[in-house]
Parts: sequence; C-alpha cells; structure tokens
Amino acid sequence: MRELFSVTGKSVVMTGATGVLGHGISLHLGKEGARMAILGRDRERGERLAREIAEAGGEALFLPCDVLDRASLEACRDTILERYGRIDVLINAAGGNMPGATIPPDKTFFDLNIDDFSRVVELNLHGTVIPTQVFAEDMARRGEGAIVNFGSEAGLRPLTRIAGYTAAKAAIHQFTRYMATEMAQKFGEGIRVNAIAPGFFLTEQNRTLLTNPDGSPTARARAIIAHTPFGRFGRPEELYGTVQYLISDASRFVTGTVAVVDGGCDAFCI
Ligand SMILES: NC(=O)c1ccc[n+]([C@@H]2O[C@H](COP(=O)([O-])OP(=O)(O)OC[C@H]3O[C@@H](n4cnc5c(N)ncnc54)[C@H](O)[C@@H]3O)[C@@H](O)[C@H]2O)c1
Repeated sequence: MRELFSVTGKSVVMTGATGVLGHGISLHLGKEGARMAILGRDRERGERLAREIAEAGGEALFLPCDVLDRASLEACRDTILERYGRIDVLINAAGGNMPGATIPPDKTFFDLNIDDFSRVVELNLHGTVIPTQVFAEDMARRGEGAIVNFGSEAGLRPLTRIAGYTAAKAAIHQFTRYMATEMAQKFGEGIRVNAIAPGFFLTEQNRTLLTNPDGSPTARARAIIAHTPFGRFGRPEELYGTVQYLISDASRFVTGTVAVVDGGCDAFCI
C-alpha cells in the first residue's frame, strides 16, 4: 500500500512553496522522499524551508521566482533540470486574494477597481497557466507527470466580497479540466492534471477577513464555521494526504478532477 502512494525520488516543483499551505506540503513531501524544488519570492523563508527539509533527511532546492515572469520561471526550470534531471510533478500553489480586490460591506460591485480585479485574476490564473507552460514541457517530452493546481471553495461557490478571486479560482477549475484532456489526448495518459479545492484554512491572506485585531473571529468567520459541518477551519496538514494521492500512482486513472478538502462545507445547504 505504501508503494502505491510513494513519492520517493520524484522531482517536485512547487510554486507558492513559501506560503502557509505550501510550506507544510513541501516539508511533508520532502520528508516522504520527494526531491523538492521550492519556488517562491521570499528568499529567507525559502532557504529556511530548504534547510528544514534537509534536516529532516530530504532533498530540497530553493529558487526565487515570480510566477508571472516567464524568464524567471525558465531560469528555475533550467536549474532544476540540471540538478534533478527531470520534472515529475508541478504543484501550482502560488496565488491568493488581494485586499484591493475585496469589496467591503459599505461598498458595492460598482466601486470595484478593475485594475485590482485584473491583478487577482492574473496572479491566480496566469500564475498557474505560465508555470504550466514552462514546467510541463519536460513532462510532455517524456509522456509522464502529474500537475496539481490550487483551486478553492471560492471556485465552487461564489463567495461574497471577493469577486476577482472567486472568478479566478473557478477559472482554475476549468483550466484543470481543459489541461487534463489536452495532455491526455496529445501526450498520453501518463500526464495527469487535477486540482485541489481547499475550504477555509486560516492563513495570512485571509487573516484580516476572518479575525479581528484582538484575534477573535469576525462575523464572516463565524458564518463560515456555522456553514461547515465539521464546525471549524481546516488545518494545513489536512491537505497533505490529498496532494500525495494526486501525485502518486494511487491516482493513476484520475485526471481532470477537483478534490474538495473542506470539512463538508461544499456539501452543506441548510
Ligand atoms: N488559505 C486558504 O484558506 C485557502 C483556501 C483555498 C485556496 N487557497 C489557495 O491555496 C494557495 C496557497 O495559499 P496560502 O493560504 O498558503 O496563502 P499564502 O499567501 O500563505 O501563500 C501564497 C504564496 O504565493 C506566493 N506568491 C504570490 N504572488 C506570487 C508571485 N507573483 N510569484 C510567486 N509567488 C507568489 C506568496 O509569496 C505566498 O508564498 C493559494 O493559491 C490560495 O489561493 C487557500
């Protein structure tokens, strides 16, 4: 059974690896024997994470990148291929909402700044499409690989206030399905493309929406918890198993799916 879920020796590229969710997932996969390429913007955090993985007996390489800058991604790809020889897995985790693109309760859609809306769509959608173009080419050449995109609960159900983020994450779910077909039809069944849709996890990007300055939950946070059958936010480690499943042989016939990890939030109506 362990063999089925094994990631040992796989060369895994992860964008957004220095973020809250990315950090834990990278560390987990590194401990499981994956050869990690940690991509991020924060050098200090990235190098610290690479050291943590090495101290846990794994192998990791930190590379600074901007997911919207093709040249920086290509430089990362060249270094990874030089060091690991191939790219087996791409996890597109860079993304998130931006305060400017959030419509506060005293404003309406007509106050939305279109530049902020574009920036959120660009970061989440283009920031997934461009790395896929750059890193999946090696998979296409070899006819083998797995891609996991980070969608969101917001891509399944439109959440109030975050119009751009909701639109961008819905687009990621559809892009995932599109790419699953594209890769299978043109490069064979060895390349699979899936998405993970986390529900609500308390992290830096949503902290101000979900907690008051004194740390107590906002009305929005209380509403989310009331709408989640498990009655709580997710914990980053609750994503590890789903990611590992999606990049291992355990999911060999699975492509074009969106794996929802949300304590039942999406299933709940009344
Ligand atoms: N936290 C949640 O509840 C939640 C829920 C659903 C989906 N998600 C998604 O999960 C992913 C990880 O989120 P997180 O909660 O760890 O957030 P986070 O803000 O901690 O991590 C996001 C990472 O993306 C990086 N990033 C942003 N812009 C970048 C750019 N231009 N180039 C390179 N890197 C860039 C940031 O530096 C950060 O390391 C995101 O795609 C997010 O949208 C999060």
